[in-house]
Amino acid sequence: MTIQDNILQLKKQKNAVILAHFYQIPAIQDIADFVEDSLGLSQKAAATDADIIVFAGVHFMAETAKIINPEKKVLLPDINAGCSLADSCKFEDFKAFKEKYPDHKVISYINCSAEVKTLSDVICTSGNAVDIVNSFTENQPLIFAPDKNLGGYINKISGRNMLLWDGSCKVHDMLNQEAIIHLKLVHTDAKLIAHPECKATILEIADFVGSTAAMMKFIVQDNAKKYIVATETGIVHQMKKAAPEKEFIIASNDETCSCNDCEYMKLNTLEKLLACLENETPEIILPLHIIEKAKIPILRMLEISNNKKK
Ligand code: 13P
Ligand code: SF4
Repeated sequence: MTIQDNILQLKKQKNAVILAHFYQIPAIQDIADFVEDSLGLSQKAAATDADIIVFAGVHFMAETAKIINPEKKVLLPDINAGCSLADSCKFEDFKAFKEKYPDHKVISYINCSAEVKTLSDVICTSGNAVDIVNSFTENQPLIFAPDKNLGGYINKISGRNMLLWDGSCKVHDMLNQEAIIHLKLVHTDAKLIAHPECKATILEIADFVGSTAAMMKFIVQDNAKKYIVATETGIVHQMKKAAPEKEFIIASNDETCSCNDCEYMKLNTLEKLLACLENETPEIILPLHIIEKAKIPILRMLEISNNKKK
């Protein structure tokens, strides 16, 4: 039996579901039940009737699934799969920052720890950030954490003036405009599509800005044949599957580097996925008081997004 056969057999036997993010390695994407963006994966986690959720993604995503489903077992193939953006916002520092602005409401990007979620009024993802921001009245002062690039982008398109926490994702934040302009000059027929975690200098020259799921939708519906993709490399696998006739060029600063591989996303492997199903570990464990507090802003986000869909 192949490793894939073993995973599928165990998954069935244990009534498990495998949720994978677009940035996972292709072999994991291909065996997953669902491959989606952070919003889609949290919606799938909320809807599942599986007993075990194997989260092929990073720690904050698996934590979110656990918060939504405290009674289920949530496994993360590699417990060290963290996130530089979540790490850029420590609970104590953020608490002190928030206390300086008592009249502000807090919108936290899902890429933050469960502890930071307990300090938030509502969570958002890059897929629903505009809807979440618009759920507040125009005169409500807001804090947006932890991604200054996404927050700055939302400020720009919504005309808000949210206070921004100074955090960023090292994969997206290191992409530089000069290298991308160079790629655009070489591939004059390509459109530039970018994740809003990229710097403003990149977003302002992009033909399309959106979450990973929004980028997927765009490349399927749009009529161009070639795209420069400013995000993590993993997504190209799904893009090629969704639009095999099109060409995708990953926007890196240097052709020789693999700097837009997220080192955390890429910690998960098929071997670790099999081992975690066999041993039911590493498991996400959270104190009940954190789960109870962090659940409120997550459920608020899901409710706003579900109402929007109707
Ligand atoms: P998405 O919500 O667009 O999937 O992004 C998640 C992420 O971690 C981007 O770096
Ligand atoms: Fe975090 Fe960036 Fe990796 Fe996304 S790509 S998980 S934001 S480090």
